[in-house]
Amino acid sequence: MDKQINFDFVLFGATGDLAMRKLLPNLYQAHVAGLLHPEGRILGVSRSDFDTAGFLAKVETDSKIHIKKNFSEADWASFIKRITYVSLNVNRPEDFKVLADTVKARRETDNIVIYLSTAPKFFEPTCEQLAAVGLNAENVRVVLEKPLGTDLQSSQEINNGVARFFKEDQIYRIDHYLGKESLQNLLALRFANVMFEPLWNNKYIKSVQLTIAEELGVEERGEFYDITGALRDMVQNHLIQMLCMTAMEPPASLDADAVRDEKLKLIQSLKPLTTADVAENVIRAQYTEAEKDGQTVNGYLQEHNIPADSRTETYVAVKAEINNQRWAGVPFYLRTGKRMAGKVAEIVLNFRDAANHIFDGSQKAPNRLVIELQPNESIRLYTQLKMPGSGNHVGQAALSVNMAEALEGRRAEAYERLLLDVINGKLALFNRRDELEAAWAWVMPIMESWAANKTTLHGYPAYSWGPEAARELLARNGDKWHEEQ
Ligand code: BG6
Repeated sequence: MDKQINFDFVLFGATGDLAMRKLLPNLYQAHVAGLLHPEGRILGVSRSDFDTAGFLAKVETDSKIHIKKNFSEADWASFIKRITYVSLNVNRPEDFKVLADTVKARRETDNIVIYLSTAPKFFEPTCEQLAAVGLNAENVRVVLEKPLGTDLQSSQEINNGVARFFKEDQIYRIDHYLGKESLQNLLALRFANVMFEPLWNNKYIKSVQLTIAEELGVEERGEFYDITGALRDMVQNHLIQMLCMTAMEPPASLDADAVRDEKLKLIQSLKPLTTADVAENVIRAQYTEAEKDGQTVNGYLQEHNIPADSRTETYVAVKAEINNQRWAGVPFYLRTGKRMAGKVAEIVLNFRDAANHIFDGSQKAPNRLVIELQPNESIRLYTQLKMPGSGNHVGQAALSVNMAEALEGRRAEAYERLLLDVINGKLALFNRRDELEAAWAWVMPIMESWAANKTTLHGYPAYSWGPEAARELLARNGDKWHEEQ
């Protein structure tokens, strides 16, 4: 366990949705588990004109309901003692002085975490004011929430803006997928075992699928979602990070830069997409009205705060290729969508057919390794085994591990792990600037083609597995999406 480090956690955007739904509940979990220094404080910051009592009343109604486990009133009462509120207007330097005075009442060896859960346009001005009051010293870390920009250029501008006041090793760019236990486990699976890595290449693997499917629609986030879309919301960050963990070369160690160097190399090895590639290998779609359990469910265009003529995608599937020795010729299918038939995040490696066909069997199918990140954390290796009885028929069955059942220990949510890592100064699970910009560079041709309306926007019924066009994308290569296999 890490030595507990005393800290001030300064949360900008403290009245916002992320703070209420994720950040405070996850800090609560860390508190209950005894992982926070007893004197560590949380300073909620936002424009709202609250005092601490007023802010705590809001936390009581808006945040407490999101604590799904380990709740007790006594723990809650001791947790909220850590919280103080500071009302601050980003344009008023005097408000930052008040903040600095509150924070500087602490010892210099303490860590100060500045979490910017605000719109990116406030990042640079906020950092500038923080620096003006000395809140950018060595012991200060700044956490940047996604989306970090809307394209390569705006991302570079944000990074340049923050870099004027903070050094790269003080900047923690969050992608909560990296905090998922199951994704970190992928590195152990690949690099701590002898039997997977030798097969982890184009000689043995025919295709790879990475899926993040959600049943949720856009809910109350219409305004944000409609200017964002699935490509920026999920592909540029979460799916590319999943791809990196799946396909990168072994890092020399688990040090932050060793891992991030390998992720960067992988992103840079992605074959750049031309306009023709986008037309052929990228599918965008929107969910449409459908019937579910006898009820009509809205299509995207009927959702709250969505313009009736919106062309924002709620689904993306991409056939990507990696130009390196290990992966040349292996299609990597990346897909994500809202209002799909199920909630699942998984990585599926389809192996090549066994060369020797001495067995019969109607169910004969190549091996497949399925790494399910959520809702269950599991690994299933589909294997050919002889069916009981006379004859030589084989059938497929899975060697299967459910991680929660197999390995004891406390399993933290992604945000909790990441918040603790920031407090403890561990950068490995955060994105470095160059990786993030390389990921933007790769998705840019898709955004440009779409902006010029060069490709079709498909539809898929709400609560389905996506558009027909995505099925055809795989069929061209003789592949099928996992739910059809
Ligand atoms: C967020 C996206 O980054 O990830 C959301 O903005 C999405 O649109 C969420 O719902 C999915 O996260 P998870 O952990 O529930 O798969």
